[in-house]
Amino acid sequence: MHLIALSLIVCCSVSFSWANEWGYPDLDNNQDEPFPKWGGLCDSGKKQSPINLHVKGALKGEFDALKFENYDEHQKNLRMVNNGHSIQLSGFDHELTLSGGALLQDFVVEQIHMHWWSEHTINDIRYPLEVHIVHRNNIYPNMTMAANFKDGIVVIGVLYHVSNTPNEAIGSIIKSLGAVKSYDSMNKPVLVADSLAVDDLVPSVENYFTYAGSLTTPTCAEAVT
Ligand SMILES: *[C@@H]1O[C@H](CO)[C@@H](O)[C@H](O)[C@H]1NC(C)=O
Ligand SMILES: [Zn+2]
Repeated sequence: MHLIALSLIVCCSVSFSWANEWGYPDLDNNQDEPFPKWGGLCDSGKKQSPINLHVKGALKGEFDALKFENYDEHQKNLRMVNNGHSIQLSGFDHELTLSGGALLQDFVVEQIHMHWWSEHTINDIRYPLEVHIVHRNNIYPNMTMAANFKDGIVVIGVLYHVSNTPNEAIGSIIKSLGAVKSYDSMNKPVLVADSLAVDDLVPSVENYFTYAGSLTTPTCAEAVT
């Protein structure tokens, strides 16, 4: 009886740690490495992000203007963490609130992270950087809850191209990357030395694509506008 109980515990702790470990194909070493299976909705979902945004295939619509509150504030206490998959910023001095457009509620910024090489493509073009500003619907108390509802999360995704005109906010982020880039600094947040205003990460939003999709990392919850 003891043996059986022990093997059950071993089995379950192993599968739990697998569930937390996921990664991207190492295309620098092997361009043909297939995209790994992350399990659950990531493999079987029906509204999975990212997608190719195709200008001719998109329906045109008109919405009220989006409303950005506090995005112009210079954030002086931002923390940056290397979580092993990306770098992520959080610790905003005041609530940054997005509303308007086709949104029915207020959405507050939870965190900002980046993807080197964009996840979305526009007309099949992949851009060198994609910034995700992740918002939670204010009617839900936390991201875990919000991820259970199709109106739970709004992500603003911004695709960047290389330019001679520096972006001030990206510049502040790059300046602090050295403090988190080593393997040993993983999961240890540092203060972003230079303040930055989140609206410097967002270009004009007079025209944008919007669609119902998902988180692009496990659990891949289909809760994202
Ligand atoms: C999220 O909120 C729910 C409901 O209040 C609570 O039960 C849960 O523990 C919270 N989860 C986290 C990770 O804070
Ligand atoms: Zn992302």
